[in-house]
Order: sequence, then structure tokens, then C-alpha cells
Amino acid sequence: MRTTRAAVGTPVARLEGRAKVTGTARYAFEHPAPDPLYLALVTSTIARGRITAIDTTAAERLDGVVTVLTHENAPRLASDENRELWVLQSPEVAYRGQLIGGVVASTQEIAAHAASLVTVEYDVRPHDVELRADHPDLYAPPKINAGLETDTALGDVDAALAEAPITLDLTYTTPRQHHVPIEPHTAVARWHRDDGADHLTIHDTTQGVFRTRLFLAAALGLPPERVEVVSPHVGGAFGSKVRPKSHHVLVAFAARTVMGRTVKLALTRRQTFAGTGYRTPTIQRVQLGADADGRLTAIAHDAVAETSRFVEFAEQTAAGTRTMYAAPNRRTTHRLAALDVSVPTVMRAPGEAPGMFALESAMDELAVACGLDPIELRVRNEPGRDPETGLPYSTRDLVACLREGARRFGWTARDREPGVRRDGGWLVGTGVAASTYPAFPYMSQSTAKIRALGDGRYGVDIGAADIGTGSRTALTQIAADALDVPLDAVDLRLGDSALPLAAPAAGSMGLGGWGSAITAAARAFRDRHGVAPAEGAEVTAKGDAVPGAGEFELHAFGAQFAEVRVHADTGEIRVPRLLGVFAIGRVVNPRTARSQLVGGMVMGLSAALHEHGVMDPIPGQVVSNDLAGYHIAAHADVQDVDAVCVDEFDPRYNALGAKGAGEIGVVGVAAAVANAAYHATGVRVRDLPLTPDALL
Ligand code: MOS
Repeated sequence: MRTTRAAVGTPVARLEGRAKVTGTARYAFEHPAPDPLYLALVTSTIARGRITAIDTTAAERLDGVVTVLTHENAPRLASDENRELWVLQSPEVAYRGQLIGGVVASTQEIAAHAASLVTVEYDVRPHDVELRADHPDLYAPPKINAGLETDTALGDVDAALAEAPITLDLTYTTPRQHHVPIEPHTAVARWHRDDGADHLTIHDTTQGVFRTRLFLAAALGLPPERVEVVSPHVGGAFGSKVRPKSHHVLVAFAARTVMGRTVKLALTRRQTFAGTGYRTPTIQRVQLGADADGRLTAIAHDAVAETSRFVEFAEQTAAGTRTMYAAPNRRTTHRLAALDVSVPTVMRAPGEAPGMFALESAMDELAVACGLDPIELRVRNEPGRDPETGLPYSTRDLVACLREGARRFGWTARDREPGVRRDGGWLVGTGVAASTYPAFPYMSQSTAKIRALGDGRYGVDIGAADIGTGSRTALTQIAADALDVPLDAVDLRLGDSALPLAAPAAGSMGLGGWGSAITAAARAFRDRHGVAPAEGAEVTAKGDAVPGAGEFELHAFGAQFAEVRVHADTGEIRVPRLLGVFAIGRVVNPRTARSQLVGGMVMGLSAALHEHGVMDPIPGQVVSNDLAGYHIAAHADVQDVDAVCVDEFDPRYNALGAKGAGEIGVVGVAAAVANAAYHATGVRVRDLPLTPDALL
């Protein structure tokens, strides 16, 4: 009976594309409300200390101001378990830019002006905001992000390094990086009383409506079912919108104060730099030992990162090194310095993005030391099984990616001598780096509901998120195939906590988990209601667990190639070509998947050349805290960027055979660019971003 229409695998354009480009797709702040009020934030101007006086009288006197919230009059939180949500609960200041007040007024302009009239006196204490490898209080966190082990050890690294004919001991650094999604953080809240009970409705820009609901309900003391979170469209997130932040609590406090009225909040770009998370800077020491033909005998990767003093976040910087290459002796460690800074968080490919810059640069340095082609060096160190766990890989097509990339990029004719190819005033070089990102097995189980709408149409409901990735489109394709109906017979809804419980868009787990739920619901629907269901017939089902979890190592792999030109007189760096070849399982939508991979590569290029959150230790503030100071790749930087996928299907991750495409694109790009810059100039740069002065 199945006609196999196979929407999956076709390059369907984004279903909401027209609505977005014509401006009719509504983002959170645009949610219409009668007579809304606006919240503006008051933020701390010291990095550590305590408020001794806060004067709101000038702000309150302004026409149009409804109320001013400070720690002196704000409601108490029901739970202070999540200190990231701890706002206006005490006069203590833990970082610069912390929310210390809020003004509610009739317009955004009045609110902002009134916020500027609030005067604050502080008892200032000395702060420490600088990450240093020799920081006196480095400590080992109990676990690192994604629940991974802090340290791992295999064999005897020091003995192997002492015996190895070729050894390298190198230190790499990556800077503080910020997510800067095009849509800043916003939230529109309404607190209302229905049937004698308090309800909160939030139109949010979030990677997961259920995260916002759960965390806010706990903090505010509301049952989760009385908090509704709506987020149909999100203008980018990159990790900064996975968890709700203190501004969510403040807008909820404001909404409670003006019960029944809608309160709108949009953070300024600078406020997003101060308090919505960032990627920690890292200092990474990589030691490699190899025999004369380039076979690794030892790998050590010791990573230092920062966290805030009040909430611990530990970047899993060396996680990629645990799986990349065979070596009988291996050590990975993670140490943190707790500083007077806001809480760092996940940012596109947490761990692998900074960590693989170090490892893949070091592998290039090893190739030079051994006189080997860098692709050949990687192939020689390819492990049959995961070198730490001993588990087989569900799929591992790194070599296929390297070889396919070499063929497409024209790698084989490459002359390995650095600093010798000139084109007029430009030095020209090429570089390669490997890439990986885990296909995490947790957060895989979402639920979906399918309902017959009549006339052969189906409603598919899932509390998933589309943060600009195209997941609405890809999930519609998955639903159409699972129900064996045309694409336009599916009416998919997402981005609302009134829909069935689903995982957030995070960790490249979204599509696989949501897709499994939709597939399971379609199967159950057809089993129960057949192919000619009565209108209104419905089924809710939970997706399958990851079949290969615990028995297989589940990772996506890739190979990044870069061509770099460095001007011999000015050091100006140009990247005319980037090519990424990826093994991410089955590709559900080649158009949106390519867009994710290319987008990740552009972010990697941006990290290679520009991105740097510059911390000024004296005020304790990031000074490059807007898009004038925090440079990201502009159109002129982005030239020929292409991403392709090798044929792969991974049924051990899910029945779709699909892994995530959201994060791996960024991994390895900065190393490929730095390796190409070395090949062009003979100068090795071990600190991101690569700047002209470093290459002269
Ligand atoms: Mo992703 S950095 O887990 O949102």
C-alpha cells in the first residue's frame, strides 16, 4: 500500500520562508497585545560588591513610568536553586552588567530613559576577571558539560613522551566568544488570574519552550502547567537561548506587578553581551608523541577555561581528543578558574569548537615534524574502535570525508613547502583539519501528536523549536513520509508549550529526537486508525530511545579544507575557498542541511579571523560588546564556501538514520584556516583570532 513519496531527502525550501522575508512571521517581541507596557533594565556598573543605596525617585517621577523594581521591592523567588535566575534577590553584585533593577513604562523610550535615571551607590570589592594558565585557584569540576568525565587517562603519557622519537609540546588559546544572534533576547509576558489561579504566558525567543517553562515555573513557584511559553520563530540562538536567564524572571516579576497587562522586554545588543552567556576563553596545552612514521604513541590535552563564581559551567574542551586518533597513551584534563563574570554557556559546538582548533593545529604541526602529508598522518592514526571506550563506532567515515574533500579541493597536487607560493603580493597556502561532533543519545525522547483533520490532511503537533535551522520544514517532510501523504497534507505546529513535550533544539539532537517522535506517532496512528481515519482521530506517541546507545560510539565526522592568502606587506588575510565534507548520516533536507553546515563554517571562519570578546580587567567588562567592536565575518569575508555530505545512514542513532547538522560545521574551520595560513607564510599562529600582526 505504501507509495513511498519520499519527501525525506528532497531539498524543500523553508515552509515559512515567504512569511519571514515578507515580514509577516511574528517574532516574540512583535506579539500583539492591547496597550502593552515596556520593561527596561538597570544593570550593575561594577564587577563585584554590594549595592548600598539605590535611588529610583527621578525615574518614578517621569511621566509614563508605572513602576520601578529593585532588590528592595521585588518579589522573592520560590526557589533559589538555579542561581542563573536569581535576580533582585539581594544587594550583592556578582558581575558587571548584572540586572539590578527594571523600569516598567508606557513606551520603550520612556522605560529606557527612566532606567538611566536610577542612581546606585556601591560598596565595591576587588574583582578577578582574567583567565590565566597560572591562575592560583584552578580546580577540577566534578563533571564537564554534557555530563562528561572531567579527566581521562589511558596508559602512561609521560613515559611514552619521554621515549617518542618525535614530540611536540604546544599551547593554543581561544578567546571569549559571543553568540550574537541577529534577533536579540526578548520576552513578552502576561501574568493573569483565571479561575482564581495565577497563570503566566510568555512569548519568548528560545531553543526550547519546555526549558523556559520548567525553569521559570520552579523559580516563580507556579505549577508548570500554568506557565505557557510560545516561540514560533527564533532569529538565531547558537546556544544562548537554551536556558532561560535572569531577564525572563524580571519580565515575569514586572508582569506580576501589573497583573493582566502585557509587558514587553527586548535586551539591547550590549545587554546580550553582558548576561546571556558566552563561550569561555580557553588555554590548551597539547602534547603529542609519535614514532618516525607518524604513528601517535601519546596524546595529552590539558584544557583551562573559566566559569562564573556563582554558577559552574565547564566547557568540554578536550572531549574531541578522546575519540579522534588512535594512541595507546592518552590524557585529557579540564580545569576551571572561577571568576567575577557572568555564566558562560554552550555555544555552537561547545567543547569541539575550541578544542579541535588546538588538536587539529597540533596534528598539522606533527605532519610538518614528520614530513608527512597531513591527510596521510590522520589516516595513519585512524582508530578501528573508540580509543578510550573500546566501543565500535556506529559509523565513522572520517577517512571518506578526507579523501572526498582532497579530490574536490584539488589537494593531491599540493606542494608542502611553507611560504613559497606567491601571487603578486599575496602568499598562498592550503590547509586541512578534521572535524567531529557527538550524536548525543540523551534528550532523544520527545513526544508528538497526530490528528486527522479530514480531507486527507493531518495535524502534527510537537513542542519542538525552529531557531532558523529549517526544522519545521524537515519535520514536515518526516511526517509526510511517515504518514505516506504529500507534503502539503501535513500541518505541523511547533514552538508552544501547549503542544506535546519535546526536547530543545540543542546539542545537534533536535531533528533526530523530534523525527523519531513523529515517526513513532505516525506508526501508532496508522496501526490504530488505518489509512482512512475519522476526522478528529488522534494519537500521541513518544519517540524510540537511541538504539545504539551504550553499545556504540555515536559521532558525526567531517573534513575542512581552506585556501588562505596573506598579503606579504600588510598581513591581510583572505580566505577565498572553504570546503567541508561531512558524514552526518542520512540528510533529511539537503537544502536546509547545507545551510546549517555552511552557516557553521562561516561561524568557524568568523572565529578564525575576527571574533574576540575583549575583557578589560579594570572595569571588569567586555569592551567589544556590540557589533561595531565584536567583529563577525562580513559578506566580503565569505567567498567560496561549500559543504557536501558523503553517503551515510546511521540506524543505530535513529530509524531515520540521521545525525545532527547544526554544530559540526563550525568544528575544525579555525584550524584549517590557521594551517593554511602557516602553509602560506611559514608562520604558525596558535592564538585565535588570526590577525595580520601575528602573520607578519
Ligand atoms: Mo547548542 S550550543 O547545544 O544550542
